[in-house]
Amino acid sequence: MTNLLTQTPAWKELQQHYSQIKDVHLRDLFQQDPQRGTRLRVQAVGLYLDYSKNRITDETLHLLCELAHQRGLEERRAAMFRGDPINVTERRAVLHIALRTPKDTRIMVNGQDVVPQVQAVLDKMAKFAGQIRKKAWRGYTGKPIKNIINIGIGGSDLGPYMAYEALKFYSLRELCFRFVSNVDGTAFTEAVCDLAPEETLFIVSSKSFTTLETMTNAQTARAWLVEKLGSEQAVRQHFVAVSTNEKEVTRFGIDPANMFEFWDWVGGRYSMDSAIGLSLMIAIGEEHFRQMLSGFHEMDEHFRKAPLEQNLPVLLGLLAFWYNNFFGCQTSAVIPYDFYLHRFPAFLQQLTMESNGKRVTLAGEAVDYQTGPVYWGEPGTNGQHSFFQLLHQGTKLVPCDFIAFRKPLNPIGNHHDLLIANVIAQGEALAFGKTEEELKAEGVPDWLIPHRTFPGNRPSTMIFADQLTPRTLGKLVALYEHSVFTQGVLWGINSFDQWGVELGKALAQRIVTELSENEDLSHDSSTNALIRYYRDVHPS
Ligand code: F6P
Repeated sequence: MTNLLTQTPAWKELQQHYSQIKDVHLRDLFQQDPQRGTRLRVQAVGLYLDYSKNRITDETLHLLCELAHQRGLEERRAAMFRGDPINVTERRAVLHIALRTPKDTRIMVNGQDVVPQVQAVLDKMAKFAGQIRKKAWRGYTGKPIKNIINIGIGGSDLGPYMAYEALKFYSLRELCFRFVSNVDGTAFTEAVCDLAPEETLFIVSSKSFTTLETMTNAQTARAWLVEKLGSEQAVRQHFVAVSTNEKEVTRFGIDPANMFEFWDWVGGRYSMDSAIGLSLMIAIGEEHFRQMLSGFHEMDEHFRKAPLEQNLPVLLGLLAFWYNNFFGCQTSAVIPYDFYLHRFPAFLQQLTMESNGKRVTLAGEAVDYQTGPVYWGEPGTNGQHSFFQLLHQGTKLVPCDFIAFRKPLNPIGNHHDLLIANVIAQGEALAFGKTEEELKAEGVPDWLIPHRTFPGNRPSTMIFADQLTPRTLGKLVALYEHSVFTQGVLWGINSFDQWGVELGKALAQRIVTELSENEDLSHDSSTNALIRYYRDVHPS
């Protein structure tokens, strides 16, 4: 595969095509083709993807698919599913798809079938989750566990936290779940302030078991528990670990029998369906967790087999690429119209930006094009009353993904009709806007017309599903995982490393000692002054 994206024939054709269609209005596209709204949609694996309100034509899609083909999407996809070490800078396979594959599949990594290992950990998780849920697991004083606190950060927090919130409807309400990620002591303090230690279980979730925030919070939790329960012996019944690092887990004092393993071929941001989802499994139970895995798998199979033009993650990825690299959009919004999905945008931020926030190709050459956009979002309808003004009338073009469900989990009055009417209306308003003529016909005075005009032609994609279930959540997450993969392949970058987080970590290690020791400082003048300002109230 050539790394020269901008030299591929399809890129050149797309450039030419873009210059022809960049000013074409969605109003005209819909007028020219009355079937557009039903033609430019795909219904697959129980999802309805309406991409007709995007600034594309059949030709755009054809050329984007051609580009994907010329960039080797099919081969790269096969390489990922085969377990090739496509994470080249860390020399690792990328096999989150193995976490949800059926028992009878074989996926080889370094000559070993990993599927039996995955299944064994799932069974171990199920046994443990069952014990907690049935009150069979007792704390140090003999009381059952009522509170579960996941300590982790990044992929070891965002996924399980998002999924717990998303599937709260299915959770065992007598249990209380909290997620501590931030090294800010407030996070831990607030999480435990009203909890009884003898009824509290900590799940220390960390792939590396060395992450500063997680280990600091875990040590604080350990000290809190030991102090309150008066014995080091209590640790064994109140701490379990999810990690790839048995040595560090044991050193912490957690019984290796209570460690839930995962593997270096699972990236942190791709790990919510591994043992990292232990808190979620305790909340929703084994059956629901397995349903979620089957939803993931359905989307994996669709991504693997469906033709590019009918392939949901590919379409989502191509659209993101189109706006990023041709329209110059710097950001992309994801607006779930379901309150349970309120952490979904935060989860997607790590998935998308840690994966595709890269500036060199797989071969280490600087790119001469834009890579991953900024992702952001909030649930609808709340967003409508804060940032939607900019989406409708601002000077920036922000493509939006809307996510909605036909059936509510909590039907009350006409709430759901109102919710869905709003999401559909927003797509319509963004695309078609409101013209000067329409305003005049309504009798709006001339001086007010510029203020009340909506230019329209603002793209959105609607992802509609039947209901928010564990299975649907699995499909949605896999949809975005593979969309991120598709974009990474187009850009020729490694979507699976994250070297960009290292520098800040190393500097913080150095500064933390400088804060408490009065040694000379050799940073820049701003950094030195900030450290001194802090030292003023913390003299050594
Ligand atoms: O800081 C980045 C990162 O490595 C993420 O990729 C990861 O999800 C997070 O830190 C947590 O890492 P760990 O699970 O090893 O504690």
